[in-house]
Formats: sequence, C-alpha cells, structure tokens
Amino acid sequence: MPTALIIGASRGIGREFARQYKADGWRVIATARKSEDLAELTAHGCEALPLDVNKLNDCAGLAWRLDDEKIDVAIFNAGLLGPRTPSMQSPEQTTFDEVMHTNVLAAMRILPLLLPLVENAAGKLAVLSSDMGSIGSRNNPQVWLYRASKAAVNSVLKDTSLCAQSATCIAFHPGWVQTDMGGPGAQLTVDVSVAGMRKVLAESSREKNGCFLSYSGTQLDW
Ligand SMILES: NC(=O)c1ccc[n+]([C@@H]2O[C@H](COP(=O)([O-])OP(=O)(O)OC[C@H]3O[C@@H](n4cnc5c(N)ncnc54)[C@H](OP(=O)(O)O)[C@@H]3O)[C@@H](O)[C@H]2O)c1
Repeated sequence: MPTALIIGASRGIGREFARQYKADGWRVIATARKSEDLAELTAHGCEALPLDVNKLNDCAGLAWRLDDEKIDVAIFNAGLLGPRTPSMQSPEQTTFDEVMHTNVLAAMRILPLLLPLVENAAGKLAVLSSDMGSIGSRNNPQVWLYRASKAAVNSVLKDTSLCAQSATCIAFHPGWVQTDMGGPGAQLTVDVSVAGMRKVLAESSREKNGCFLSYSGTQLDW
C-alpha cells in the first residue's frame, strides 16, 4: 500500500488530498495543529500527527514520528495568504514574519526532513506554491507579501530538487480554488484541483524534478 504524507490537512486543499488518497486505498499520514482536526482526520482513517509548522518542537516531533518511513508522495501544503494589499503597502513586522515563517521558513525546516523519506521510496515531493509567486508571468503587484513568499518557496523547492537523487520534487500552482483562502467565487472546486495534481504526480517521472507546474500539468514560468 503506498503512503502519502500531507502537511497541513485540516481543511481546504490539504484535507482534500488526504480524502482522495484515502479513498484510493493509500495509507495517509496527515498533520494538523488543532485537536478537533486531528480527531476528524483519525475518524477518516488517516494517521494524524500534530504539527504547527512554525513550532520547532512540533517539527522535531514530526521527524521522530516519521523516522525511517518510506513516503511515496509528500505534500507541503500549509500556507497563509496574509494581507490582501492592493499595491506596495509595507507589512507590519509581525505580519511579515507570520507569512514568511509559515510559507518559507517552515518549508526550509520541513523539506529537509521529508526528502530522505521520499528518497527511500523514489517518490514525489510537492510544495503548494502559487502562480502569484511567478516573477516571469507577473503583471500586477497586489498581495505582494504572499507573492514574495511563494517566489521564495519556489526557490526552496528548486534547491530541494537539486539535492534529490531519486525523488521528483515539484512546485504546484493548484489553480484558483474554492477554499477559505481562495473564496467561494474561485474558478475550481477543491476536488477538481486536487484530482488534477494527483494525476500530475502519478504521471511525473524524474524529468519533472525541479519543475513548476499547474494542477493540469502545464509548465509555469518561475
Ligand atoms: N485556494 C487557492 O486558490 C490557492 C491558490 C494558490 C495556492 N494555494 C496554496 O495552497 C495551499 C493550501 O491552500 P488552501 O486554499 O487550502 O488554504 P486554506 O483553506 O486557508 O488552508 C490553509 C491550510 O494551511 C494550514 N496552516 C496554516 N498555517 C499553519 C501552521 N502554522 N501550521 C500548520 N498548518 C498551518 C491551515 O491549518 P489551520 O486549519 O490549523 O489553520 C490549513 O490546513 C496554500 O499553501 C496556498 O498558498 C491556494
């Protein structure tokens, strides 16, 4: 039975990844930071692990709990949008730290833990990025803190891919998705977005290592 690990599975895209892999017969390890979300994941047959990606003790606990696992698919999904600024409004220090710590620093702490486990299975390691992080295709400056954080996590994913020997590391744009972050007016339902990314992961071989892809598999500009 293949194993999927979802970092940040309490709601939205992460929860749907856990649901779909479970429905497909996979073993699913899923993290959340609130006890009620952990209980719900357990009730749905997942192995639920507590993790606030910004807490060092939680990250150490995750490393200990996952020691020597073989992970076929690992997904770093946890993310924060931050302020919906129309232009160049400078963020407060605390706001900057919250978004950058969640979207970038946490990835720099957790991807090094996950890569060897994914290498054990010659599996796939994905981060949930966004086309808003693309510099090459950028044409407006709204929500610039989030954009900066996703550009940075793209860099982190690329470096991770350069350390991978057998794993395939991918940065994903999930589309504009109906979640708490995407809002009810978003273009895609969460099941369509996640089904698309699962298909891309299933079909990706090592030549996709270090790529930035949409949920439908289209290659995006960094
Ligand atoms: N929805 C879109 O249109 C869209 C588009 C492009 C990219 N993305 C990216 O896709 C990913 C998932 O987005 P979503 O739409 O599903 O967002 P969401 O509905 O707002 O869910 C965010 C998830 O991240 C978790 N999270 C946030 N901070 C955390 C922390 N410190 N520790 C652990 N978990 C934390 C949340 O857990 P709690 O429930 O505990 O808060 C929740 O599970 C994000 O990285 C986002 O940037 C989304």
